[in-house]
Amino acid sequence: MRDKQEYAKRIHSAFDFAGRQLGHLIEAQPDFFPMYTRAGKWKHAGDAWTNWCEGFLGGQLWLMFSYTNDEWWRDKAIHYSRLIEQRKRDDTVHDLGFLFWSTWRRWQDHAPEDFINDVLVEAGRTAGSRFRDKGQYLPSFVSEESSFIDIMMNVGIIFYAARESQDQTLWEKAAKHCHTTRRYLIRGDGSAAHEGIFDTETGEFLRESTHQGWRGDSSWARGLTWAIYGFGTAFRFTQDRRFLQTAEACAAYYIEQTAEHGLPPNDWSEPNPGEPFESSAAAIAASAFLQLAELSADSVRASMYQRYAFRILDTLLGSAFLAIDTPNWEGVLKGGIYHQARDLGVNESVMWGDYFFLEALLDALHILTGPNAAVTARPRC
Ligand code: GLY
Repeated sequence: MRDKQEYAKRIHSAFDFAGRQLGHLIEAQPDFFPMYTRAGKWKHAGDAWTNWCEGFLGGQLWLMFSYTNDEWWRDKAIHYSRLIEQRKRDDTVHDLGFLFWSTWRRWQDHAPEDFINDVLVEAGRTAGSRFRDKGQYLPSFVSEESSFIDIMMNVGIIFYAARESQDQTLWEKAAKHCHTTRRYLIRGDGSAAHEGIFDTETGEFLRESTHQGWRGDSSWARGLTWAIYGFGTAFRFTQDRRFLQTAEACAAYYIEQTAEHGLPPNDWSEPNPGEPFESSAAAIAASAFLQLAELSADSVRASMYQRYAFRILDTLLGSAFLAIDTPNWEGVLKGGIYHQARDLGVNESVMWGDYFFLEALLDALHILTGPNAAVTARPRC
């Protein structure tokens, strides 16, 4: 790791830059929820494919409040959190964790209130209501027969709702989904399938598939990072060591497959990638590795995870990825990919990439400059 003070200075400068970009976005496009840029601009007519990103803007505003303690950011964060409240009853997507964990859960951490908890519990119950007994999994938005690795990022809010409402059945649904994912979507080498297809009549697992990766049997990088992060979160809730082992196996695969700089391509199996990097997967990985560093029982491995996360962030803080020197670019991190096969958000900024980048940077800053007990980088479990 470079000199600590120098590293912290680069993080402060990235936060200042992110604040300028976010301030400009919410002033220029009030109440707009961007997903990915086109030629660096957030507002365009590009397709969304699905609606899973509406928490990441509010989430970044909460992170700016955590970083600055400035009420201006808190008020904006509350405003953008409230704008998505009605999604707590949306049972058409598998993504309510993405929406509410990044926003309302952060709000609850800053200023606990019953009404915030009620929203989180309702969102978690809605997410859990999608559970299928046949097959023991939460289906993706695509169809009842499909489950995604991404859903691992959405079980935390179900565990939370189950605990807060003392609903053992709901808790078991979340745990069973994790076990099903572990059994069918995580492979023996620690790689992950993007999608699993099940027989809806019998619940039998049929095959691996993908939408955003290269092939059904390949490993889409962002999917793997959802697994590292999501199984880590599942362990934080349950203390079930099998989930920690899964997160660690996936982390080992990430490290094994990725070059020294820590940035993966969109899919490790793609023979000649059109774009060499997928920066949002790297940002998620940085935060997931920092979380693993806190969870791992093995101190040598824990320091290795921390060092690896710092290496990824070092690369992302360089001007090839941080848009600080790119005139008229509206995002924070360049080089993300949303959906390569549909040509959506390829080599662009993506909202979740910026969100997890700031989350990882805040955690890294606490490590470098001393912990801030009042503010955790990741929402509390
Ligand atoms: N739909 C989640 C993702 O694109 O990673």
